[in-house]
Amino acid sequence: MNRRHRTILVTGGAGFVGSHLATLLKRDREGAKVIAFDNLKRRGSELALQRLARAGVAFVHGDVRQAGDLAEAGAFDLLVDCSAEPSVHAGYDGAAEYLVDTNLGGTVRCLEAARRHGADVLFLSTSRVYPIAGLRGLPLARLGDRLDLVPEAGGPGWSHAGIACEFPLAGARSLYGATKLASELLVHEYGAMYGLRTVVDRCGVLTGPWQMGKVDQGFFVLWAARHLYGGPLAYMGFGGEGLQVRDVLHVEDLHGLVDRQLASIERHAGCTYNVGGGRERSLSLRELSALCGRRIEAVKAIGGMADTAPADVPWYVTDARPAQDAAGWMPERSLDAILDEVFRWLTDHRSMLEPILGMSGGHRTSERGLESEA
Ligand SMILES: NC(=O)c1ccc[n+]([C@@H]2O[C@H](COP(=O)([O-])OP(=O)(O)OC[C@H]3O[C@@H](n4cnc5c(N)ncnc54)[C@H](O)[C@@H]3O)[C@@H](O)[C@H]2O)c1
Repeated sequence: MNRRHRTILVTGGAGFVGSHLATLLKRDREGAKVIAFDNLKRRGSELALQRLARAGVAFVHGDVRQAGDLAEAGAFDLLVDCSAEPSVHAGYDGAAEYLVDTNLGGTVRCLEAARRHGADVLFLSTSRVYPIAGLRGLPLARLGDRLDLVPEAGGPGWSHAGIACEFPLAGARSLYGATKLASELLVHEYGAMYGLRTVVDRCGVLTGPWQMGKVDQGFFVLWAARHLYGGPLAYMGFGGEGLQVRDVLHVEDLHGLVDRQLASIERHAGCTYNVGGGRERSLSLRELSALCGRRIEAVKAIGGMADTAPADVPWYVTDARPAQDAAGWMPERSLDAILDEVFRWLTDHRSMLEPILGMSGGHRTSERGLESEA
């Protein structure tokens, strides 16, 4: 633990990742003040407020687009930036303003606040910084119920171990990915110019209890919820067979890494890491269906839609070895353990969660299938 971090501001602190990090950072730092800052835009984020209060985390209702709101949060010596419009599909409908203002403008406002207070910064970025065409161009073949790289294949920044930070960055990546990449550059630029210690974690798919899964973000939880509560499910894109692959990391395993990075932040300052569960925790949607099917009684019918959404990619597995080596960290939870925990949580809190995650949840569920995202 870094004793300098006595007041921690977690933006997006009522969101899935932010609320977990805020409560766990508070749990491990006796006497430290942890503030969760959130505008509660994400449906379901309001459910985090009780958990935050129980954990002793202060809450400030504010918007990262507003410098005045951030000023109201007061001084801090560590910023953990988890606020975002986190869907890679955002903006394709022509409504880009909120996405850009929050994901890029909001980062600038946060960095300005960090600069004023001389705070360290840990920024949650995404695997979506890697270009869509580059990822779609990987040589893949069907292997059982999933796509995988063909044997012996490898190239700059990619191998059977996954996608590394060296993966070429030229090409379009969605506005979500672009705002995150631009934010990463600014985060480290503020570090270099103003002497802030900055760390960027580019995460693949994160999951765990209290993720308010939507069709376009948080597929692991939504897939489990639809199996348990009912509601439409369809494989979407790449032929509609559910062969696309992602790796998954439990949010508490992410915390394990973040905790280590913060403890020796001088060693990680200026660094960008790919963070994810890796090949061992990778699966296709089809394989996820099989795992869910083992946990329910009825057989669930799953449709297929061949059309591929513009930002979707068929295969993303994180090569997290540099992050592991630099921090001496390894994820602990297996896919089965993660899914068991998610099913338990969905069962225990059914009345609270079903309106959000079930068939009647207003999460653009209707006739759309499920895309894969990070
Ligand atoms: N969950 C994943 O699989 C994943 C993967 C890669 C990267 N990330 C990144 O991790 C971070 C957290 O993602 P998450 O999954 O917790 O998403 P989330 O939607 O659950 O949390 C984001 C929070 O930010 C808040 N927010 C949105 N706009 C805001 C604004 N203008 N001002 C203040 N708060 C605002 C939302 O209300 C929400 O509570 C994001 O930066 C996301 O890009 C997440």
